[in-house]
Amino acid sequence: MSKLISLLGLQWGDEGKGKVVDLLSKDIHAAVRYQGGHNAGHTLIVDGKKIVFHLLPSSICHKNIKCFLGRGVVISLDALFSEINDAYKFIGDIEARLIVSKAACLIQPYHIKIDQLRERSRSGTKIGTTGRGIGPAYEDRVGRRSIRVVDLYNPKTLKVKLEEALEIYNFLIKRYDKNQQEDINELLDKNLEQAEKLKPFVGNVISEVKNLQKKNKSILFEGAQGALLDYSLGTYPFVTSSNSSLGGIAPGVGLSATKIDYSLGISKAYATRVGEGPFPTELKDEIGTYIAEKGFEVGATTGRPRRCGWLDAVLLSQSVYLNGINGICLTKIDVLDGLEKVKICVDYTSPLSKEDILETMSLDDVKPEYIELEGWDQLTEGITNFNDLNKKAAVFIQTVEELCGAPVVIISTGPRREDAIIREYPLGK
Ligand code: GDP
Ligand code: IMO
Ligand code: MG
Repeated sequence: MSKLISLLGLQWGDEGKGKVVDLLSKDIHAAVRYQGGHNAGHTLIVDGKKIVFHLLPSSICHKNIKCFLGRGVVISLDALFSEINDAYKFIGDIEARLIVSKAACLIQPYHIKIDQLRERSRSGTKIGTTGRGIGPAYEDRVGRRSIRVVDLYNPKTLKVKLEEALEIYNFLIKRYDKNQQEDINELLDKNLEQAEKLKPFVGNVISEVKNLQKKNKSILFEGAQGALLDYSLGTYPFVTSSNSSLGGIAPGVGLSATKIDYSLGISKAYATRVGEGPFPTELKDEIGTYIAEKGFEVGATTGRPRRCGWLDAVLLSQSVYLNGINGICLTKIDVLDGLEKVKICVDYTSPLSKEDILETMSLDDVKPEYIELEGWDQLTEGITNFNDLNKKAAVFIQTVEELCGAPVVIISTGPRREDAIIREYPLGK
């Protein structure tokens, strides 16, 4: 059965989206990234080998799938070419099946510089960004001054736009470091050179996707980051600068929002966060360390340690609601194997009402209230059949379903593609 399916993270990113994309890819024809950029890090374990994708859709790993970078993605051409080169080593040439939207906005070197300089300076709120220029590139997009892919092929417009950009960025950069100024001629040459290299990949994503729909092909919309990092719906200002929620698909691809058939949400069986920002269920004790070590919780893009904590069902059920989730894939349940007790946050104590908290996502002063479930010592690792799952682990899963109001359709029991219990297949049979 052909379907348009969206797959997105329900927490603060790194839920295991790459692994789940890989699991579903055998039954799809095309995959589209619609937001974010090379701030993402999606890990796949294929035939025992670890592969990490940042900007390319993770489905690119599968040779029969056409992959798109939609208009909502911000593209660093340096990062794109470097990833295409890396991909060449293990999947060969991808030129014929990667299409980059002419309308996508570019991340220029000055975006990266200013992102890093701002984060390093002591003034202002430190977000703990990935330093990839994502925020500044989206600021330009909303500010109506981005350089888009299509501009690369009009040298006159490109020069004017770069000059205008440098008027702003060289002024800003000088405020932090006068030695890092950008030179217009060097930048223009670099853009023109990269334009040539990019040519074979440039295309019209709207018409391509429309054609695939006409032919009844299945398309996967691959979310990056997670719903709690959405700049509108997440824990603002500690968010990324795109709509990482379901709503990002329509403007990020060029597709009607009513066309998505199935919304799959990915959540860990616990919670992690990289960078700054509130995290009510964060564990700063030996259980937090246990989870971090057992789950190898280190950022796939920046190598930073991920903060770890218990599953927060207050936030998870909000993400389920806001993203119209039809089914959850619960990942990394195996990481909880061996714990005596497992907790889930079901409410907050706070001077604010729950409605106020969820409207503003002001989580600084909330105190989590937990339910405590029995842990399990038999391994769930690698299990593929629900009936083989330890009964206490099954109770944990059922409790998540009840608290979040959505069925857990897939349970991921390890990092490899095959480590999964599929209870209901989102793409049908
Ligand atoms: P993404 O950004 O959502 O694609 O997730 P990342 O790749 O950044 O981080 C998820 C990490 O967990 C990766 O190292 C995966 O290999 C690993 N992983 C995914 N699913 C599972 C699972 O069910 N169990 C275990 N132990 N590891 C998993
Ligand atoms: P994937 O797709 C986890 C976080 C950063 C920082 C905030 C803003 O692998 O799940 P940015 O560089 O986007 O301006 O940083 O967002 N962040 C992520 N955290 N996983 C990601 O991607 C992330 N992408 C950005 O750590 O807190
Ligand atoms: Mg990641």
